[in-house]
Formats: sequence, structure tokens, C-alpha cells
Amino acid sequence: MEYRTALLKGDGIGPEIIDSAVAVLEKVGEKFGHRFIFTPYLIGGAAIDETGEPLPEETVKGCLACDSVLLGAVGGPKWDDLPGNKRPEKALLGIRYALGLYTNLRPAKLFPALKGASPLREDIVSAGFDIMIVRELTGGIYFGERGYRQGKFGEEAYDTEAYSVTEIERIGKAAFEIARKRSKRVTSIDKANVLETSRLWRKTMHRLSEQYPDVEYRDLLVDNAAMQLVRDPKQFDVIVTSNMFGDILSDEASQITGSIGMLASASLGDGTRGMYEPIHGSAPDIAGQDKANPIATILSAAMMLRYSFGLSAEAAAIENAVDHVLSTGSRTADILGSSAVSPIGCREMTARIVAALE
Ligand code: IPM
Ligand code: MN
Repeated sequence: MEYRTALLKGDGIGPEIIDSAVAVLEKVGEKFGHRFIFTPYLIGGAAIDETGEPLPEETVKGCLACDSVLLGAVGGPKWDDLPGNKRPEKALLGIRYALGLYTNLRPAKLFPALKGASPLREDIVSAGFDIMIVRELTGGIYFGERGYRQGKFGEEAYDTEAYSVTEIERIGKAAFEIARKRSKRVTSIDKANVLETSRLWRKTMHRLSEQYPDVEYRDLLVDNAAMQLVRDPKQFDVIVTSNMFGDILSDEASQITGSIGMLASASLGDGTRGMYEPIHGSAPDIAGQDKANPIATILSAAMMLRYSFGLSAEAAAIENAVDHVLSTGSRTADILGSSAVSPIGCREMTARIVAALE
């Protein structure tokens, strides 16, 4: 089979880590007899420098013509002073919206080999944890009405949050369906004690949960959830939440794994086309120095094989190759922890994962 993937390398370490994922995919293609076709498009600061726009029309069209999208990272100090709608980050929101990717999956799991890297106490993480955050990605305050106006204290800025039953239902369904394939527990996180959107969210989730009697359901207020995540992360399986709460909680969840350089993500819509990217950012401080950890992007490529192409065995082969390389002590600088080995670079880590696929 042929599979077409748009490559959005972006900024900072983006190009290096995308090259790593491509090398791994090419090895998988060779081994399993698939043809992966890659087409690069501009996004973020790189696109601003070339075209003046963070998300050129050609990029959107190119992604729509592919079966999936693999994204590196966008942004950097060079573009920090641009106005809001010209910033590299704007491209991310634009491409998510244009591709209808309303479901954002952000797994935060503790890799057994990296337990020592978690900032949480040993007794809290000793049993491990494996959380799947399902974040709503194309609605809420990120996309609501915003602007400036005259208020009680003079000029003020405002952003608004709106959620429809339809938007809540579709993200809720995604979460319950995913929970069915895991340990069947969903926690919906909101701020229903204050926000009207959260009250509608909660009411809708309750109604939906009746269609999933086999899945254990509970609600949690977002402030409590932030606390529970560091107090006892293993209590969570699937978390479903709004765009903004999901943004914040997924950073917290990824940090307690101690290995943000390892975490992948998938953004999905109604069809099979998805966008896959590491959770970490563009790390401009180490860009071009062969120091980046390519694993989050390589694992994102594995998610792409599983969710967009239906190639589960191939996805598992990549995940096993990563596990194997870690178990033999290979470490990039970010996941060194207290280990005594000397760190390897992005290219060497990639080469070892490709070799493990043999
Ligand atoms: C993320 C990022 C983005 C978001 C920014 C860069 C627009 O923080 O993917 O979590 O807030 O969604
Ligand atoms: Mn974020």
C-alpha cells in the first residue's frame, strides 16, 4: 500500500526530529512492504520567513491532499514579537481547525526504564501510571469571540468560551470509545461550580455515560484534578476535558513522567486523517546541535501508523524498538536522570532505533 504524509518540520529542532521519524518509517516500509510518500510543507516561523504567513494556503491544501500529517514543532524567540495573528503558534490553531481535528490524544505514561526521571516521589510512581488525556481541540476559549472594548476600568481585552452539545458529545464519544480499549475508566474534568460551559459539559457527559454502562465515569473539578495528578496519578485512565484545561493538564501530566522528550500525540477528526506531533516544543536553545531526543516524534509516527493507517503491528514494532533501545541504556541528554552513561545525540539515537527494527 501507499501512504501519503505531509511533513511540517517547522522550527528549532523540528527538522531534525522529523528527519529521524522519516528514517524510522522508511525502515518500517522496507521491512513490511509499504510505500510511505513524504511531502514537506512550510509552517510556523519557517513559513513566516519564506512567505510572510505562519500557515500558507499551500500548506493547508497539501495537508488536505495527504492521508496524514507529521508535525515537528513551531515557534522561537525570533518570531516572539509578532502580533497574535501572525505568530507561528497561530498556524497550529489554523491547521487543527482546517483539518477538523477536534480530538487531541495526549498519552502520559511512565516508561519503566525512566522512573528515576520523574520529579514525583518514588512511593507515588512506583506502581507506574498510564494516562490518556483526550483534549477538545477546535472549540472553547481558543476559538471564541475575542477583542478589545471599553470596560469599567477603561480599555479591556476579552476572550470568550462557548461549547455546543454537539462539540461536547463528539469529544465525549471519542473518550468513551478509547476507554473501552483501555482500563475502562473516564474522568471528565470541568469547572462546573463556576462556568456555564462546564455545566453544559457535565450534563452532556452524564447523558453520554449512560450509553457506556461498561465504562466507569466520574467528574472532577479542574483545580482538584491538577492536585490529584501529582498526589496519585495512577488513579487516572482516560481524562476528557476542554481545550484550555487540556492544554494545562497535559503539560502537568507530561512533566510528571519526567520525560517530555518521549511523549507523542495524535489529533484526529471524523475520518482517518490525523496530525501527529511530539508534545514538546521547538527547543531553540539546542536546535541544530544534534542534541534533541527524537523519540517523541518517532512514537508519534507509530501513533500515525496505528490511528490513520490501521497498521498496528508496524506501530508496535516501532514501540518495541524504542523500548529495546532504552532498556539497553541508550539515553539522550534530556532522559539521562541519574544514569551514569554518556548521552548520545539525535542521529545516534535514531540509528539505534532503526537498527533495532531489523
Ligand atoms: C499545545 C500548545 C499550543 C496550544 C500552542 C502553542 C498554541 O501549547 O499544543 O499544547 O495551546 O494548543
Ligand atoms: Mn500546550
